Amino acid sequence: MLPTIEWRDDRVIMIDQRKLPGEEVYVECRDFEDVAEAIEKMVIRGAPAIGVAAAFGVALGFLRVERSKDSRAEFSRILTRLRRTRPTARNLFWALERMTAAHQENQGLPLDELKKRLIAEALDIEQEDVEINRQIGQFGAELIKDGDSILTHCNAGGLATAAYGTALGVIRAAFEQGKKIRVFADETRPFLQGARLTAWELEKLGIPYFVISDSMAGWLMRKAEIDLAIVGADRITPNGDTANKIGTYSVAVLAKENHISFYVAAPLSTFDFSLETGDQIPIEERPPEEVKEINGKLITPAGARVRNPAFDVTPAGYITAIITEKGVIRPPYEKTLADLRK
Ligand code: MRU
Repeated sequence: MLPTIEWRDDRVIMIDQRKLPGEEVYVECRDFEDVAEAIEKMVIRGAPAIGVAAAFGVALGFLRVERSKDSRAEFSRILTRLRRTRPTARNLFWALERMTAAHQENQGLPLDELKKRLIAEALDIEQEDVEINRQIGQFGAELIKDGDSILTHCNAGGLATAAYGTALGVIRAAFEQGKKIRVFADETRPFLQGARLTAWELEKLGIPYFVISDSMAGWLMRKAEIDLAIVGADRITPNGDTANKIGTYSVAVLAKENHISFYVAAPLSTFDFSLETGDQIPIEERPPEEVKEINGKLITPAGARVRNPAFDVTPAGYITAIITEKGVIRPPYEKTLADLRK
């Protein structure tokens, strides 16, 4: 499968996720500003993939710093710009913190060496993400039975990570184990990550699937056509509250009402230990055009006012378990998460 993002010849190459599934085209980023714009405009999206892109953005920006400049000031300029791109994805800030630590720890090195060190750190973040997703896949696949029908929301696949995926990684691991499963992919209005990206990945992987519009999930659960739901996460607080793509909360409430397990799959880098509950998670509001238009064509009265929160928060009480690279945790999350990190 095509990589989501790649460091190649001191440039960053990304598949343009806005064009999928119609066109498989790549965007080349030559500086951190290109990377920042790519994140903002959703060329690349999905919390772990945003984290990898941000790390590459820092390495790329720092690589271009000239000897005559104050390299510390340049580093913080790059960071400030990348920090402003997407407010909800915890992995963005986590990756920037890791790059900052690498920068600080290697201050004594000559500039050229420091540049190489930052590139190596960004590549480590990318490689580790692939390994972490495989581990999430292995733990999560144990929760899936042969014959299960699985609902997923948004895209938490290879495109949303360095490769393999979190929620879709679990589905993929179960499929690789020979389990006969099928997937219901919510289309995920307004950006259609499910219809465009999850379906594209499932198609390539040969995993049987149906695309459904978001409003169909409840009815299919009631008709016992869905056995479990699994989604990714953008930010999780230590009590288990989980921010993920708008519409996730509705899926979780419907799952509980219909006695269906609702799982979240995410790496530990998605947890925000500086917050206490989901109420403190910043929720990104995206441009109204995403709701008012489809493929650039207006579908509402031109003057319609819209709201476009890109994420919602599912309270921990709706989440059956959270699948991480270190294992599966169940409520009470404060305790099981602390035990997991020991
Ligand atoms: O706005 P997006 O497409 O970046 O939102 C993506 C999601 O909500 C994903 O479910 C989440 O980032 C997890 S991706 C492994």
